[in-house]
Amino acid sequence: MRDFTGRTAFITGGASGIGFALARAFADAGANVMLADIEADALTAAVEALRNAGANVRGIICDVTNPADVDKAAAATIEAFDKVHVACNNAGVGGGSGVDPVSLETWRWVLDVNLMGVVHGIRAFLPLIRSHGEGGHIVNTASMAGMISGLGFGPYTASKFAVVGMSEGLAMELAPLGIGVTVLCPGFVRTRIGESQRNRPQRYGPAPTWPAGSRASTLAAQVAALVQAGMDPADVATRVMNAVREDRLYVFTHPEMRGETEQRFSAILQAMDASAAPANKP
Ligand code: NAI
Repeated sequence: MRDFTGRTAFITGGASGIGFALARAFADAGANVMLADIEADALTAAVEALRNAGANVRGIICDVTNPADVDKAAAATIEAFDKVHVACNNAGVGGGSGVDPVSLETWRWVLDVNLMGVVHGIRAFLPLIRSHGEGGHIVNTASMAGMISGLGFGPYTASKFAVVGMSEGLAMELAPLGIGVTVLCPGFVRTRIGESQRNRPQRYGPAPTWPAGSRASTLAAQVAALVQAGMDPADVATRVMNAVREDRLYVFTHPEMRGETEQRFSAILQAMDASAAPANKP
């Protein structure tokens, strides 16, 4: 898609951080924008800010873990703007890592938002994008944590690897239909991701507390500092807009993480090469 004028973009997690920056970028490019978010006050403020800047924008409260909510958001998008062309499945939460301290409730919460939220978005929006035949694009927000396991064993890494894999498969399937797919894999970005527990529904249990000095608490502090010093979300959004225009699958933001990525892929290729060695033959 090269021209967004009069097109419609739907964005989950649109009230904050990367989602809000995407909303602004699509609005600046002339698109109608529908923001979906679980956080009511932030959503109202985000819609107001964009509207004051001249955007044709609406907002809807939506918990992406709930497929019925996402279906309702899709219906509201069509009611407001008639058609939808771009779906950004961006809402996400961070939830710790490590073998011992992560509860099953935390695993379920992070996977429900970061993975099932994307599934629900594709399920609700792809038929609508296909139906008008004007082409379109799906943007799924993963992370560098979907490429390398730098954050260790945990739900965040699991969810983001899954989003990368799904997006790669989806891109192959949708190319013949003229619908593009982009998977966004940022390094650290200056957002409220470190305060993700603010949106943790009660059904997933209480927010975890980690003993001072534990691996989980040290990692959380390190991540918070890196997020604080991270990239401006507006720069991330610019890269996404360029990728949608040029129909590129991957968006990376932090070239300095190339080394770690290369290490992972060369370890995999080495292991594949080694599988041909006589010692590995049955
Ligand atoms: P953020 O916390 O500023 O924004 C996330 C938004 O998602 C918030 O508005 C929040 O209310 C919303 N949200 C949370 N749970 C939700 C739910 N169940 N249903 C609907 N909305 C929900 O964080 P950020 O960084 O903007 O996160 C956006 C995406 O970027 C996430 O998928 C995150 O994993 C990803 N990401 C962020 C990085 C960073 O360093 N900030 C790095 C790599 C990826």
